[in-house]
Amino acid sequence: MTSAIEVEGLVKRFGDHRALDGVDFTVPAGRILGLLGPNGAGKTTAVRVLSTLLRPDAGRARIFGYDVVKEPHEVRRCIALTGQFASVDQEISGRENLYLIARLLGMPARRARARADGMLERFRLGDVGGKLAREYSGGMRRRLDLAASLIGDPRLIYLDEPTTGLDPHSRNELWAMVKERALAGSTVLLTTQYMEEAEALADSVVVVDRGRVIAAGTAAELRARVGGRTLQIRPVHLQDAAAIVESLALEGLYARIDQEACVVRLPLVEPDELTRAVRAITASAVDVLAVDTQVASLDEAFIELTRSTE
Ligand SMILES: Nc1ncnc2c1ncn2[C@@H]1O[C@H](COP(=O)(O)OP(=O)(O)OP(=O)(O)O)[C@@H](O)[C@H]1O
Ligand SMILES: [Mg+2]
Repeated sequence: MTSAIEVEGLVKRFGDHRALDGVDFTVPAGRILGLLGPNGAGKTTAVRVLSTLLRPDAGRARIFGYDVVKEPHEVRRCIALTGQFASVDQEISGRENLYLIARLLGMPARRARARADGMLERFRLGDVGGKLAREYSGGMRRRLDLAASLIGDPRLIYLDEPTTGLDPHSRNELWAMVKERALAGSTVLLTTQYMEEAEALADSVVVVDRGRVIAAGTAAELRARVGGRTLQIRPVHLQDAAAIVESLALEGLYARIDQEACVVRLPLVEPDELTRAVRAITASAVDVLAVDTQVASLDEAFIELTRSTE
């Protein structure tokens, strides 16, 4: 069976800078891939190459077997793109935006109208459908943008940081919709900086950093790669956290302070690290309120992975 996306040795340069520096990955049809990475990792660049908006400098990419450079028209017929930044027409209403796109996709007028109304309802924009898009709030515009890209039932959907700026309710709705699309057979490539999002949606995750793939697998596999468990140490006074970190460092253990949660976190990798950590905590002579182990979040896995390539 043909893969939805096949990327081999993809390189994209901007001047001397390699935004993509030899990227490989494959997405089987009907699956959701999470493309994960920090700011500037190359996620948007990859999406733009895969949607024929940017020409790669080396390597190749095929969408349902079509080459993005040699067969851009065929590729465009298969895809829908929701960019990181809104792309709807600001000077017409939300309903008119959706209607126009449906017409451009070749739907007859009646069907296009029904489809536009259906999408407005679906994205909770029914009440504001008649308003100019420029009068929408950021979240409404985002939802309109998503509705616009999904209107034609695309085989392959690119979502570039789709939930940035959405409230939790809209985010959950979007997640449900993405899953529904995948169940109906669409393939989805989703870029995100939120591990939680990748974990909630993606069948597999590719982590990119500075233009290179640094890890790939399921969310569970990525977590396992960084040990899977985290030791969480809560000092009585947060200002003592640094002393704990230093003491752990003397034992060769690299922890970080989570200011928000008021804890020190240490990913546990080797079997003897827990004993060494307890020794280090005792040696620090800091008063500790709680010490417990947690299954590492994908966030921690991600931080570990991007740090280990520095
Ligand atoms: N048109 C361009 N001209 C020059 N440099 C660019 C251009 N587009 C992207 N870059 C550079 O390429 C690198 C990757 O950018 P890209 O937008 O793909 O990152 P990203 O992973 O999408 O980041 P973010 O999470 O911030 O959206 C960055 O260093 C960026 O500055
Ligand atoms: Mg981006």
